[in-house]
Amino acid sequence: MPGKGKVTTATLRERKRAGERIAALTAYDNLFATLLDNAGVDVILVGDSVATVMQGRHTTVSVTMDQMVYHSELVSRGCNRALVVGDLPFLSYQVGIEEALRNAGRLLKEGHVEAVKLEGGRAFVPTVERLVSAGIPVMGHLGLTPQSINQFGSYKTRGTEAEEQREMIEDAQALEAAGAFAIVLEKVPSNLGKRMSAATTIPIIGIGAGPHTDGQILVTHDMLGMFTRFKPRFVRRYLELAKDIGSAVEGYCGDVRGGSFPNADESY
Ligand code: KIV
Repeated sequence: MPGKGKVTTATLRERKRAGERIAALTAYDNLFATLLDNAGVDVILVGDSVATVMQGRHTTVSVTMDQMVYHSELVSRGCNRALVVGDLPFLSYQVGIEEALRNAGRLLKEGHVEAVKLEGGRAFVPTVERLVSAGIPVMGHLGLTPQSINQFGSYKTRGTEAEEQREMIEDAQALEAAGAFAIVLEKVPSNLGKRMSAATTIPIIGIGAGPHTDGQILVTHDMLGMFTRFKPRFVRRYLELAKDIGSAVEGYCGDVRGGSFPNADESY
């Protein structure tokens, strides 16, 4: 039984019904997961953005199932309240439905997440239906889908044309009908975020989708100012930790080299 205050997929649906916004962030390790969970984040996504944020890669394409299981296990062990969602990495769910089921099952059984996320619309309806019927909650991901970067060739805003917007809303409704409990909507115009949220009863969690979606998600290392290789316009930095860490480490190096660390109180 989930404890009191535990966020579940049912909580999220209820939040949307009540018009209460959902706050989501990413985590890849136990320390950050614990900090975010204690601070009251509703949904913690073990994103395949682990590739760009933690592994120094330029895309998410190379992330493996074993890596996602490893990071999911670290994160889920740090969470008591938040709903923990694990990303299905590229080619873990596209090859076949049975393989998708086996891989999603690994994220739940070995990674101890409570739900999985996959990128794509109508083409993945049979997969979503199969996972949901096996008891695996599924979060969709529409708009900019970073696993398809090699097909699209850029990370530019999606859904800028009327026809593309219509198709994306139909994708969202198809995912909802297939049993998805929420959808991440990435880097689309605000008006599409608003329209998609109005056209579905499951929460639309925006990242660069404007202020009208049912919730927001950011990559934690972006909003803390730790990841500075690039900064999408939709990121708001609440701290400048890369600068603070740099200053702290410079201070430490200076103290060690100058002989002022450790002092008497720091010695035995
Ligand atoms: O992998 C990830 O961190 C994501 C978020 C950007 C939503 O999919």
